[in-house]
Amino acid sequence: MKTRGLANRLTQYGDREFSLFLRRSFAKSMGYSGEALDKPIIGIVNTYSELNNCHRGLKDLVEAVKRGVWQAGGLPLEFPVISLGEPFLSPTSMMLRNLMAMDVEVMLTAQPLDAAVLVGGCDKTLPALLMGAASAGLPAIVLAAGPMLTGSYRGERLGACTDCRRTWAGYRRGEIAQEAVDEIENQLAVTAGTCAVMGTASTMACLSEALGMMLPGGASVPAVHAERLRHAEESGRQAVRLLERGLTPEQIMTRSAFENALRVLQALGGSTNAIIHLTAIAGRLGIRLDPEDLDESGEGIPVLADVKPSGSAYMEDFYRAGGLPVMLQALKGKLDLSTMTVTGQTLGDLLAEPFEWPDWQQVIRPLERPLKRESALVSLRGNLAPDGAIIKRSAASPHLLQTRGRAVVFTSLEDLAARIDDPALDVTPQDILVLQNAGPVGAPGMPEAGYFPLPKKLAGVKDMVRISDARMSGTAFGTVILHVSPEAAVGGPLGLVRDGDTIEVDVARRRLELLVDGDELEARRTEHRVERSLPARGYERLYLRSIQQAHLGVDFDFLRHSSLQPNDE
Ligand code: FES
Repeated sequence: MKTRGLANRLTQYGDREFSLFLRRSFAKSMGYSGEALDKPIIGIVNTYSELNNCHRGLKDLVEAVKRGVWQAGGLPLEFPVISLGEPFLSPTSMMLRNLMAMDVEVMLTAQPLDAAVLVGGCDKTLPALLMGAASAGLPAIVLAAGPMLTGSYRGERLGACTDCRRTWAGYRRGEIAQEAVDEIENQLAVTAGTCAVMGTASTMACLSEALGMMLPGGASVPAVHAERLRHAEESGRQAVRLLERGLTPEQIMTRSAFENALRVLQALGGSTNAIIHLTAIAGRLGIRLDPEDLDESGEGIPVLADVKPSGSAYMEDFYRAGGLPVMLQALKGKLDLSTMTVTGQTLGDLLAEPFEWPDWQQVIRPLERPLKRESALVSLRGNLAPDGAIIKRSAASPHLLQTRGRAVVFTSLEDLAARIDDPALDVTPQDILVLQNAGPVGAPGMPEAGYFPLPKKLAGVKDMVRISDARMSGTAFGTVILHVSPEAAVGGPLGLVRDGDTIEVDVARRRLELLVDGDELEARRTEHRVERSLPARGYERLYLRSIQQAHLGVDFDFLRHSSLQPNDE
């Protein structure tokens, strides 16, 4: 029989009975009775941090989880792991996601835990929690922080962070005054919780629910709503039941579950970052997701969520419209209903209840009446991106989806910052802006720099095609081609583009081509030797030695499932 509770994973002193005696003595120093210490232990992984505004409400949530665990007969023990607050990290949170995932995996497997409740929310935290839990193999359930409520300015609703970007772009174009920007700053993020739109955080919360790792309805309850505390309490109870059933992440997050999640991602018009995160989580379980999987997931799946940045509403509206359970009902005929969930029931069981479409709401649309007829996210291939690139078609300008243009190249983020507003920059609205060396290795850390500002001298122009090996915030919008793989810094063709080259973008045909003669490209390749030296020490050295490209999920090679090692691209 498997060891449970405190007797699990003993500290090594060469005497197991002494180890348990010592552990119980020390546990008793925290005031627990023998009866409490005999219960199964449910670890509560708390990502609260004062440097993570989105997680401000986590202390209350964790207390509610504890109530639930006690009610179901478990012993709840909370512990901290790394917290990643998106705007508070340099150079970018993506560089730290894998570090957090390692922290989660190691602490889940080093401590005497029988199951875990994973509490997080801000962009990288749910992916890191899921990656760590997938590798740890412990029964686990996800609890999200929940989205913020909206603020308002002069009668207009505002929510982080689509409106942050819209405001800033208007300010740069000279359409919004400094005084207005100062006032709007107070209204963009007005409560605890994650960004108020379908950015990466809410996308990943919805996908955690779609994967089966979260209790139904949990993705979109606002952070400050009483229902979120009840949901947290129920998550605590369910963690104990999950343990009793022995349901592990591997049994829940199957290939079919990931394919369901990709379909849900399309219908949400969700964040491009989710593709990287899903690929990384799947990679921990030996499941390889390819750009083709994304395109297949989009077949027959239009955009159904009218939520920013693809639509017009906010996450609180999505919640009031019924949240993910309503979306799943809309997609029922397109999903594999045999997948298991943390409830112990299959997705089909959960969706079997008679369902009446709430036709009083417009935020979640039925398949027959979509917000946008075509799939939201599209992968592109071509000689500029042999291993793929991504565009969020639902947030792009339709007239730019098939175009040819002259490249205006920035060789790095520093070059971009130095020249984008230069009045002498040779650029027209029809040009294609190219940013090199902003990928996983190049930046490093693959920052959300793909949605970069338009040249100031083109005041009035609201969108241009932008191509990079960087990522883009889930809250951003525009005709932005991202995740070009392989990236420029490891010798990808993106690094061979020169000012004045012609680039062809054809989203309908999934093509991204650099229209330069093959011999010329070879000559450039010979001349353009990519040489990088590793830092002498520290995390950056580990990162740069082990980081994989975007199409492999930007995970460390040694953390992927053994069946996917070594690099099998
Ligand atoms: Fe945390 Fe947007 S900054 S979710």
